[in-house]
Amino acid sequence: MELTEIADVEIDTLLDAIRRRYDYDFSQYARSSLKRRINGLLIKERLDMPYQLIPRILYDEEVFNRFLSELSVTVTEMYRDPEFFLDIVKSIFPVLETYPYFKIWHAGCATGEEAYSLAILLKEAGLLNRAKIYATDYNNKSIDIAKQGIYSAENIELSKSSYLKSGGKHDFSDYYTDHFEAIKFNDELKKSITFAYHNLVKDGVFGEMNLIICRNVFIYFDKELQDYVLNLFNESATSKGFLCLGNKETIRFSMLKDKYNILSESNSIYRKKA
Ligand SMILES: C[S@@+](CC[C@H](N)C(=O)[O-])C[C@H]1O[C@@H](n2cnc3c(N)ncnc32)[C@H](O)[C@@H]1O
Repeated sequence: MELTEIADVEIDTLLDAIRRRYDYDFSQYARSSLKRRINGLLIKERLDMPYQLIPRILYDEEVFNRFLSELSVTVTEMYRDPEFFLDIVKSIFPVLETYPYFKIWHAGCATGEEAYSLAILLKEAGLLNRAKIYATDYNNKSIDIAKQGIYSAENIELSKSSYLKSGGKHDFSDYYTDHFEAIKFNDELKKSITFAYHNLVKDGVFGEMNLIICRNVFIYFDKELQDYVLNLFNESATSKGFLCLGNKETIRFSMLKDKYNILSESNSIYRKKA
């Protein structure tokens, strides 16, 4: 057996231990990024080999939590890719306007900025009171931050400019209060979103969603897991529901591609056929 194959056995054994102990299954995460992240954790834990992580993770939940933090890349920002939000305002809002009530699911929402970004645009379009917004992630620490709706003010100038580029019509500061180095979103926005734990690998369908947004999550999955999660979304979406992926993600290579019309290739916005 080659050394690289032995290293793969080590990683498989580590992932199996994690699945059995904590019920998190990473076996279908893209191998190259998984290896990079395991290496990152090894350096932080001052260990040399993946097998040394096994007893640490099995007996110490804190080490597992650090593993999870290393793996769930929670990088996000307000109005990330403004042209995506502008596209939603222009091509999806006019359809949502025709519904008396609609449901939106942000899957893999990290610390929640994406959900607050959309809630503000819905409010400006007079649609927020018709929307039920669910925002989910498998990282409980991120979900706790999202629920609080308090963020560092460090990037506020970028947020303001991205808000305007996304079709924002007012002053971004109308939606939060300043708290020294932080901003806190208004209660009306916080109340409009239900933040919850949901693991795309093992948890079930979220029923009857008119719009599903899952950006910058598929890049961490292998092809089989991507197909599995796309099926989950397909089952969760209403007939003629919208599906939005990140700009590096596509349904083009999936079995489901013929069930969707492409609304925007560059922003990966699709609409389920009737
Ligand atoms: C890079 S962030 C993307 C955040 C946001 N959607 C955006 O585009 O700005 C990826 C998120 O996917 C989440 N994630 C990864 N695997 C997941 C899974 N199996 N179930 C739910 N969330 C997952 C991570 O915890 C992380 O918060």
